[in-house]
Amino acid sequence: MKDLIFKAEEISVKLSYLKGASEVIDLLSDNLKYCVIADAKVLEMHQDFKNRLLEKGCLIFEVEEAEKQKNLETYSEAIAFMQKNGMNRHDCLIGFGGGAITDLTGFVASSYMRGIKYFQIPTSLLAQVDASIGGKTGINFGHIKNFVGSFYNPAQVFICADFLETLNEQEFLNGFSEVIKHSFITSKESAEEIKKTSQEILAKDADTMLRCIEESIQIKAQIVASDFREKGVRKYLNFGHTFAHGIESVNHKNPIFHGHAVIIGMLMALKYSKELGFLQEDSYKLAKDTIGHFNYDFSNIELDAEEIFEAMKSDKKNTKAINLVLLREIGQPFIYEEKSSEKLKTFIKEFINDFTK
Ligand SMILES: NC(=O)c1ccc[n+]([C@@H]2O[C@H](COP(=O)([O-])OP(=O)(O)OC[C@H]3O[C@@H](n4cnc5c(N)ncnc54)[C@H](O)[C@@H]3O)[C@@H](O)[C@H]2O)c1
Repeated sequence: MKDLIFKAEEISVKLSYLKGASEVIDLLSDNLKYCVIADAKVLEMHQDFKNRLLEKGCLIFEVEEAEKQKNLETYSEAIAFMQKNGMNRHDCLIGFGGGAITDLTGFVASSYMRGIKYFQIPTSLLAQVDASIGGKTGINFGHIKNFVGSFYNPAQVFICADFLETLNEQEFLNGFSEVIKHSFITSKESAEEIKKTSQEILAKDADTMLRCIEESIQIKAQIVASDFREKGVRKYLNFGHTFAHGIESVNHKNPIFHGHAVIIGMLMALKYSKELGFLQEDSYKLAKDTIGHFNYDFSNIELDAEEIFEAMKSDKKNTKAINLVLLREIGQPFIYEEKSSEKLKTFIKEFINDFTK
């Protein structure tokens, strides 16, 4: 087990890196009353863990379809469940599931009796490296994603490798794109390490995964802490994202994995960095090969140059020029203002022509 404490805005968030699910149970206090908001599917796949929670006396509120039910109705059912079971402000809520559940749980915790303590047990890789870190909570409102929410940090996040075992390959890779992104904006060594350990990563080796996740969270935490209001370095976390938002917009009727769009977006940003003469051929090759070691399935992603370009242009952040995060070298991101629409459009067209899904 490994603990890391980093200072968040208003409280300290303890991150515990654990190999086995039973270690999570051992860390729960016998003197606290817990209510777990859980993804029913994940709970079913981890029956032993469910039994241990029940033995510990935890109340469990199960959610069948996490993303579909990340809404006001489920929010109010969870509140009613907690009230009926006598949860008060000295008790503790736990979120167990992917990002949809950790977002919902954070929002319930932030508002139940004006805010109670809560822990997160993220079970998808995306939730472990991203959604459960940073204190953003929320639910969807109608068709608008995360329209209602708050900033409210958990007291503790248990990152446990055991849960990744049941995650399917593409869900796993969806979360892994965040790890790859953090490595590309940080250092060449970090990218080389991912490439070197790709087999262990794909086999979800616990030590390798915990090391990757810890490094990734540390990179994000450092960047966010040094630029909370996104005036400078925090923008680098958008590496690949301007292109990715264009791709997601083209595919809005047929939702695709965000992480997969980010991977294509990063491939575009890498190639554009090279074509503009910033990134050297060997570094470009290293980054591209690193991604190539992972079996991303892009087959259902539609790519249309014209539409991607239009969506990028209509992004409210791109008023005069299109702002792209590019790389001078792996680990050296910078903001490039592209004023020539024609040049960028031609690049996107050529990229798509050469791209094999
Ligand atoms: N708060 C933030 O900063 C933040 C950041 C990024 C994303 N998000 C939110 O996170 C959500 C996306 O996260 P997600 O991809 O984890 O979504 P999710 O919670 O819907 O989980 C995706 C799928 O994986 C399944 N799953 C989760 N863990 C599993 C496991 N261990 N084994 C098998 N199946 C498992 C779930 O049942 C679900 O079907 C979105 O709602 C998004 O808005 C929040």
